[in-house]
Amino acid sequence: MMQKSTEIKIRKPDDWHLHLRDGDALKVTVPNACRGFNRGIIMPNLVPPVTTVDLAHEYRKRIVQNIPQDSSWQPLMVLFLTDRTTPEEIYKAHESKIIFGVKLYPAGATTNSDTGVTNLGKLNKTFAAMQEVGMVLQIHGEVTDKNIDIFDREAVFIETILKPLVEKFPTLKVSLEHITTEESVTFVTKDSDSVHASITPQHLLYNRNDMLVSGIRPHLFCLPILKRERHQQALLEAATSGNKKLYLGTDSAPHARDQKENCCGCAGCYSHLSAIELYAEVFDQFNALDKLEGFASMHGPDFYGLPYNDSFISLKRQKWKIPSSIKYLNTELIPLGANSELNWKLI
Ligand code: NCD
Ligand code: ZN
Repeated sequence: MMQKSTEIKIRKPDDWHLHLRDGDALKVTVPNACRGFNRGIIMPNLVPPVTTVDLAHEYRKRIVQNIPQDSSWQPLMVLFLTDRTTPEEIYKAHESKIIFGVKLYPAGATTNSDTGVTNLGKLNKTFAAMQEVGMVLQIHGEVTDKNIDIFDREAVFIETILKPLVEKFPTLKVSLEHITTEESVTFVTKDSDSVHASITPQHLLYNRNDMLVSGIRPHLFCLPILKRERHQQALLEAATSGNKKLYLGTDSAPHARDQKENCCGCAGCYSHLSAIELYAEVFDQFNALDKLEGFASMHGPDFYGLPYNDSFISLKRQKWKIPSSIKYLNTELIPLGANSELNWKLI
């Protein structure tokens, strides 16, 4: 029998999709975002959203003030795409050296996305500019048509919006964010050359039964919503296969407890208290710990055209419990997997 490893060392990972919010929230979210990661792609869905390079510069300054002194972590900023984002703003973003992507939220698709894109047809020149300078388009891949069932919104998005978009802009660098379905796995890994994808811990660890059987669990509610087990399996196989088009993006998204445990609860799971360990757990269960480094630390930089981190982290096989809650603003926040036991710990 093969001896199970008790410690693994990997090149320091990056998180290619996360939410920090703003103001006092940054005192909590920024130090936690640095835990185990060297860089993070900062989602721009603030209220109001980060729609210009100038706003991104200001937001970045507020973030940087909260990075712990001993941390080398860097925020990689993102612009929020609207119907009015101009090619000039894209060129300015490219030249800024602080912006690493532009995020397409279909208007109303998720938390704070009301001012997102309503008509992709108006943005041809903007996408052409992105394609020209190699700017990554990060996509929240769900249609918002109220007649489309919430569990089908990602698959319908691929057919009706993503496929025509990548046909029109074949060399545009596209990151399909937080994929949740077998259809996305097939599209990214088999049918498309230009589209890559990030995968969250919650979509690897859970399916909709975990959220809905014998009681509703609001802290597992995120968008795109958890799907049926068949989709979870497809994500697990793809993420642990070593496929270079897939990389780590936690989508860690803080919401205060009362906003989650609410008759109209917010979407978003906060995973930054144990993110890298959650992924390690998944890869270990699949006997694929040797594939963790590629997924967490190499496929993302390869896609974004950035260097690998030159520092390393170690994870030890050691049982510990994810905290039941942490202080957040004037209230508390319940982390993903609160109170559950993990077998791996960052040292
Ligand atoms: C995110 C948030 O809370 O900002 N929520 C979520 O459910 N994932 C937004 C997003 O990434 O969709
Ligand atoms: Zn997100």
